[in-house]
Amino acid sequence: MKKSIYYGEYIQLNKLLDAQKPLSQIHEENLFIIVHQSFELWFKQILFDLDSIIAIFSQKKIKEKDLQLIITRLNRIILIQKLLFPKFDILETMSPMEFLEFRDLLMPASGFQSIQFREVEIKLGLRKDLRFRVGGESILSRFKEGDQKYLLKLETQTSLLEQLEKWLERTPFLSVEKFDFWKSYKKIVFEMLKSDEDYIKKNPTISEHQKVTELQNIKNIRATFDLLINEKETKGKLSKKAQISALFILLYREEPILHLPYRILSCLMDVEENFRAFRLRHALLAQRMLGTKIGTGGSSGHEYLKKTVDTSNIFNDLLDLSTFLIPKSKLPKLPKELKTKMGFAYDL
Ligand code: HEM
Repeated sequence: MKKSIYYGEYIQLNKLLDAQKPLSQIHEENLFIIVHQSFELWFKQILFDLDSIIAIFSQKKIKEKDLQLIITRLNRIILIQKLLFPKFDILETMSPMEFLEFRDLLMPASGFQSIQFREVEIKLGLRKDLRFRVGGESILSRFKEGDQKYLLKLETQTSLLEQLEKWLERTPFLSVEKFDFWKSYKKIVFEMLKSDEDYIKKNPTISEHQKVTELQNIKNIRATFDLLINEKETKGKLSKKAQISALFILLYREEPILHLPYRILSCLMDVEENFRAFRLRHALLAQRMLGTKIGTGGSSGHEYLKKTVDTSNIFNDLLDLSTFLIPKSKLPKLPKELKTKMGFAYDL
């Protein structure tokens, strides 16, 4: 006979509820532990979904229905990320002075050593050469030896960023007979930049000083654009080929065949934004709790955390592609056969 399932046993409630072991008698320490534990549980779910997304992306050919599954799971990750922000609000009901009552007991432990957080970073695509260092040392130096080995090994495995790059590089439709997308697109962009330049030069309300700045800005955009179109490689984390495909998807997102790829790119931009927002929110929490004091993990505290907001990004290239977007009305027209190919096909 099948053993009847009992709620508390099924979700291992005893283990979960027996896992809060404060080091002090301070009332707030219980909250401190529970908030950290709940973050870690959600990190676990993010990793579970992330692993499955990487596995689907790693296939040689990805079916439409699998693209939908990727979107569903990325959306779940995005919702979980959003759910994490208010937890910092709850933690801030503990005052900095109450935190100081037990903070020293925690040294040298720190969220710094969250293996799951590092796993999320690494699996998304952050590599040690991209990561911010602390006191001239790799952050891995803060982990126990076994954990260091585990994380280093993880860095040799494929990441979502790598798989995304390969998938983008396989995008069809970019070069089709009788249609040179890049030639027409480049012409339009340069015309737009020229008209912006003329507007600035002729506008009497813009001061001479401001004109110099604005014109330099346009020059920089043109240089970035040249880099994307004419140079062999760009400075980004994604290859030039992958970036160009992503741009094509963003520009022609309304073509039916690009709906799902566009949603994937859009989800990844959300993941990136939320990750950065998480880092910033956490940095502000650290500032509120510690001011300019160093962290229990030995970093410069708020200063260190603030820097990671800009240095530890992963899908930044996708956000930067907005530099090259143009008004919909100016998009080069796709040839009829290509448009048909990119439309929905019905078996009539
Ligand atoms: C009173 C509350 C908190 C304070 C004052 C605080 C402070 C800090 C500081 C100063 C660091 C930098 C490393 C160090 O020197 O220790 C850090 C890192 C970190 N903390 Fe917190 N933290 C708090 C709560 C949390 C919570 C609730 C989480 C959720 C899991 C968390 C996760 C992390 C992570 C993942 C890092 C590494 C960030 C990175 O290197 O990019 N912290 N924390």
